Amino acid sequence: MGFVLAAAGSAVGLGNLWGFAYRASQGGGGAFVLLYVLIVLAVCLPVLVAEMVLGRSTGHAPLIAPVTAGGRGWRPLGWLFLASAVGILSYYAVLMGWTGRSLLHALMDPLPADIAGAEAYFKGISSGGDAVLGHLVSLALTGAVVAAGVRAGIERLTRWAMPLLFLMLLGLLIWAAFLPAAREGYGTFLLRWDASKLSDPATIRNAFTQAFFSIGTGIGAILAYAAYLDRHSGIPGEAAAVVGMDTAVGLMAGCVTFPVVASFGLGDVVSGSTVGALFIALPTGLASLGAAGRVVAVVFFLLAYLAAITSAVSLLEVPASSLIDRLGWSRPRAVWLCVAAIAVLGLPSALNVSVLERMDALFGGVLLIAGGLAMALLLGWRAPRRYRADLEGSGSPPQLVGALLFALRWVSPPAIAVGLVVSVIDLARSWAG
Ligand code: TRP
Repeated sequence: MGFVLAAAGSAVGLGNLWGFAYRASQGGGGAFVLLYVLIVLAVCLPVLVAEMVLGRSTGHAPLIAPVTAGGRGWRPLGWLFLASAVGILSYYAVLMGWTGRSLLHALMDPLPADIAGAEAYFKGISSGGDAVLGHLVSLALTGAVVAAGVRAGIERLTRWAMPLLFLMLLGLLIWAAFLPAAREGYGTFLLRWDASKLSDPATIRNAFTQAFFSIGTGIGAILAYAAYLDRHSGIPGEAAAVVGMDTAVGLMAGCVTFPVVASFGLGDVVSGSTVGALFIALPTGLASLGAAGRVVAVVFFLLAYLAAITSAVSLLEVPASSLIDRLGWSRPRAVWLCVAAIAVLGLPSALNVSVLERMDALFGGVLLIAGGLAMALLLGWRAPRRYRADLEGSGSPPQLVGALLFALRWVSPPAIAVGLVVSVIDLARSWAG
């Protein structure tokens, strides 16, 4: 149970709240949602199982596990994991900073009265001193949890944070369903169907990025947790539970944010599709509800911050556990060294939103998907016997294992390869233009 909650804590994060709103509003509509769910089920689930097997069967940290399973030729994969985790956390902590700042703001001051006010306010918190401070404080909090260890820090945090988060989200969902334009919100952003979007490169890139980022597979974060897992737990069921919770939270969050956007006429802000959409639209919409709106804003940002911490700890565990495993360092020493390095690396994102956007597209998109592809090849083709033996040895029925292995060999790699090529081309084109 501790593992499932910790893994769900890693999966459920700003990706579900900020990322889903950000990417769903870039125009894919129902096609985006459909692709995202299909990729999660057919592509990410077998890879997530592979990642868990890699961690449990080797008992090693992400830097070393690929070598243990595949031989020395797989050493670069360990480094790819490390680079991606460090890169993602460097801007994720900045997003956490914005979230924390928005929470404090909702607690202490009235919400901005109009869009112009909200945009000016967002500019203020998303660059300069405020952003740097929020980034550093968030990293320090994350470091404190990880330094306490997986059991005493990470599992203890997720045990109370996850149920609380779920309750708050459920409350918001019910509240949003009674907003005047709730239906229109669901319709415009989530259900609007345009089949041509299915082959639109931007939609495909967004769907792959959202699937891998939201589940959090492809860089060894779950691998690091699974290294502590005992030999009896049924990995496929646990992976399905994590994926189910994560997708449910993502869709629920969409059903909170989009009715707000539609009800308060904020469509233009959101489809301007800056990374700040959520941080601008939500407080503005809620402002018109007076005191009740402020309460909702406080609950929402508190929820988001909690979700973000339980995700950030999994990202930090990747480099930290690798230093511990590889160099024999003490946990606090490894953790605080990583925090210091990530703090410096995140400064450009804290100072400039467009750097953050590019870091996200590169580390949270392309490198993450590449890591997922390599993981599928490692366990599907290089070490399939390890996959089969670990799962069957812990009591999974052979037919289920066979089906998962089939997907890992024949569905995940070609699908991810297509997603990766489309993403790289789309990204190169959007950066060039
Ligand atoms: N899944 C988290 C979110 O949705 C972020 C996250 C945690 C992550 N661990 C990860 C993303 C590993 C990629 C890889 O916010």
